[in-house]
Amino acid sequence: MKKRFFLTIYICLFIAALIGCSKSADLNYSDKQSDSLEKGNLTVIGFSQLGAESDWRSANTESMKETFTEENGYKLIFEDGQQKQANQIMAIRKFIQQDVDYIVLAPVTETGWDTVLKEAKDAGIPVIIIDRMVDVDDESLFTCYVGSDFELEGKKACEWLKSYCEKTFVNPSMLHIVNLQGNIGSSAQIGRTTGLRKYAYENHWDLLEEVPADFTQTKGREEMRKLLKKYDNINVVYCENDNEALGAIEALEEAGKMIGPNIRYGEVMVISFDGINEEARQCVRENKISCIAECNPLHGPRVQTIIEMLELGKTPMKHSNVSEGIYVHDLIVDKIRVDSIEYPVTILK
Ligand code: AHR
Repeated sequence: MKKRFFLTIYICLFIAALIGCSKSADLNYSDKQSDSLEKGNLTVIGFSQLGAESDWRSANTESMKETFTEENGYKLIFEDGQQKQANQIMAIRKFIQQDVDYIVLAPVTETGWDTVLKEAKDAGIPVIIIDRMVDVDDESLFTCYVGSDFELEGKKACEWLKSYCEKTFVNPSMLHIVNLQGNIGSSAQIGRTTGLRKYAYENHWDLLEEVPADFTQTKGREEMRKLLKKYDNINVVYCENDNEALGAIEALEEAGKMIGPNIRYGEVMVISFDGINEEARQCVRENKISCIAECNPLHGPRVQTIIEMLELGKTPMKHSNVSEGIYVHDLIVDKIRVDSIEYPVTILK
C-alpha cells in the first residue's frame, strides 16, 4: 500500500514536471522571439514585399535590405508575399504580434487593406507604404507613402511617342497599339494604363487590345505571341515594364518582325517602363526599345529618412513621389513636357 502511494506521488510529480517543461519551453520560445526583436536596441522593421516578379522588384528588395542592416541600427524582418494579398495580410498580422517598431508595405494591389491597416493603427504601429499605393477609405490608416506617380510615367511615355511621331511625320492614325499590362489592380498597372488610354483617346491612336502580362518576361512573350497571331498591323507595343518588353521582343523576333522606331518602314516600336534592367537598357542602345519611362526602385534610403523623421517626432510628407525621367536611344525628341513640367530625357550610351 505504502509502495503504491509513493508510486502514485512519483507519477504525479513526473507528469507535473513534464507539463512544467513544456510550458517553460513555450516561454523560452516567446522570450527568444522578443529577445531577438529587442536585441541591442535595434529599430525593428517588418517589411512586406509583394513578390519577386521583376528585376525592378529585386532591386527594390535589395535597396531595403542594404539600408536596414544591423550596422545601421535596424533589424529587418522580410516577408515575401509571392503576389498574394492574403500572404501580405498574414505578414502584417505577424508583424503586429511581434510588436515591430514600423511596418513597411509594398502592396500587390490597391484595394482590400482597410481591415489589416486598422489593426496596425490600433496596435500603434506606424505603416509606411512604398512603391504602389493603397486605396483606403481613411488615409489615417497609414503614416505616409513614397513611390512613383505611375500615371505620370504613362503620360511621359505617351508624350514621347506623340512627339516622336510629329518629328518623324507619322500620322497618329497610323498607330496600331497593343498594351501588355501589369498586374491588374496594382497602382503601376492602373496609372500606366490610364496614361495610355488618355493619350490614345485624345490623339486618335488605334488601341487594338490590352492584355494582362503580370510584369513578367514569360507572360510578356506568351501574350505577345497570341497578339501577333490575332493582328497583322501591330506597330507599337506598350509594355508596362521592362521584363514584359524583353518577352515581347523575343516573340517579335520569333515572328520575324523588324523591331525599331521607324513605323513608316514597317518596324514595330517597343515602349517600356523601369530602366533598371541591364538587358532592357542594352535594348535601348540597340534601338529595340525606343523609350523607357523611368521607375526608380531604390526606396530603402527614402524609407530610412522617413523613419528618422518619425523618431525625432517630426511629420513626414503624407505623399511623396520620386522624380523620374525617360531613357531613349537618340535625341530626336529632346524635351518631354507633361502638364507644363519638363522631365529629363537621357540617352543611354
Ligand atoms: O510597382 C512597380 C512595378 O512593379 C515595376 O514597374 C515593375 O517592374 C514591378 O514589378
